[in-house]
Amino acid sequence: MSYLLGLDIGTSGARALVADAAGQVRATATAAYPLSQPRPLWSEQDPADWWRGAREALRAALARSGVNGAEVAALGLSGQMHGATFLDAADQVIRPAILWNDQRTAEACAAITSQVGAERLVAITGNPALTGFQAPKILWLRSAEPEHYARIARVLLPKDYIRLQLTGEAATDASDAAGTLLLDLRSRDYSQELLDALAIPRAWLPRVYEGPAVTGGLRPAVASELGLPAGLPVVAGGGDNAAAAVGTGVVRAGVVSSSIGTSGVLFAHSDTPVLEPQGRLHGFCHAVPGAYHLMAVILSAGGAFQWLRDSLQAIAPELDYERLVALAAAVPPGAEGLLFAPYLMGERTPHLDPLARGAWVGLTSRHGLGHLARAVMEGVVFALRDGLALMRGLGVPINVIRVTGGGGRSPLWRQLQADVYGMAVQHLVAEEGPAYGAALLAGVGAGSFADVAEAVERGVQVAGLTEPDAGRSRHYDALYASYRELYPALRTTMHALSPRS
Ligand code: XUL
Repeated sequence: MSYLLGLDIGTSGARALVADAAGQVRATATAAYPLSQPRPLWSEQDPADWWRGAREALRAALARSGVNGAEVAALGLSGQMHGATFLDAADQVIRPAILWNDQRTAEACAAITSQVGAERLVAITGNPALTGFQAPKILWLRSAEPEHYARIARVLLPKDYIRLQLTGEAATDASDAAGTLLLDLRSRDYSQELLDALAIPRAWLPRVYEGPAVTGGLRPAVASELGLPAGLPVVAGGGDNAAAAVGTGVVRAGVVSSSIGTSGVLFAHSDTPVLEPQGRLHGFCHAVPGAYHLMAVILSAGGAFQWLRDSLQAIAPELDYERLVALAAAVPPGAEGLLFAPYLMGERTPHLDPLARGAWVGLTSRHGLGHLARAVMEGVVFALRDGLALMRGLGVPINVIRVTGGGGRSPLWRQLQADVYGMAVQHLVAEEGPAYGAALLAGVGAGSFADVAEAVERGVQVAGLTEPDAGRSRHYDALYASYRELYPALRTTMHALSPRS
């Protein structure tokens, strides 16, 4: 028997997964690491924490699985997208990595847009310049920290920094590379036009591979530390959303996933590039060779609920996740007239506004903690429904919705999604997210599966279906109409309250 490893470099931790060659999960392990917010709107991590977390999670997952490391056939990588890890000529980290949910780059985005032209940018990359993406971070460093900028020899995405540690190779995959804003979506390689316009040297950027391609072998020293074979093939993998889409079988048109993790993502497969002219949906390459995807991203989904829990637990440690969900479940749909705008970190889909802010609206003295919690959950799903509406408007087929992440594991989140989307939602047996997709891609690279479609057919199984309740759906339709009025009504106030960085 041979085995496959998947490793996801997430925002809250590294997750490793061992699957057998038929795609059945044998064990998983997670190693948490901190996120730092040194200023409002900034979001950073120390790449050394990723590397420590990656090794810890891999060792723990292998130990739990009981699998002999010598029988592992390949390792696949996935990770939080868009982050910038700046390395010097000796591959040393220059400063903390700047993450996908960091909002410091508004000026750099404006500079890119005026340099390249808004329409041209969407035509080449599938997207406008958004604060979270990697290219504006490079421009920010150029003007804000010139002494750091002068030392750059490489810029890597988070999972690709880990690849460099694992294999010594600088490489990436097309789905993650598309999130740099430097990739030509059609050629699936960097756009020389953009690199020239932004004066970014191509030599700084890793070579782009398709998701299942082998990008290098495990270095002997790392292999012996982890108990894995030296030279173990490490495949390109995918950005966390594309890898998760492989892990949930979103590899053909009509299947859409709705993921609630720190961020919230609706993900649709497409055989050809689909562009939303205003860039309110991201158009990226898929981890499936030659394929594309369209994605709605909200920046605070599970993250908004986690914020509420963490704030409460600071004074009432017993208010853990389960307790808070139970309080929310005890409150009627619509939280008795309380709405929540979940823009705690600014917003991408549909507002593309780094200065958007969160709000509860409709508070009365009747409302308690359960109402606050329920309104947060409902606000997150309303925000995702905005993305669904944009996809429908572009004619993207939506026949099946698969719910994943924390939002797939919890019955309340599942029911909310079914009711608010007005469609039955499926959840899956192996609810393992990006690390599972990375392991399946590793399996394709190692030849365990002929292609991604076969990997999905063998590995991905539906566990159950949650049907919408017609009455609740009607109630939510009405509330959603009010929710849509929140952002335009509050925009000026949100901006006045936002520090500009
Ligand atoms: C996608 C995005 C997030 C991160 C976090 O564009 O920014 O989903 O990948 O995991």
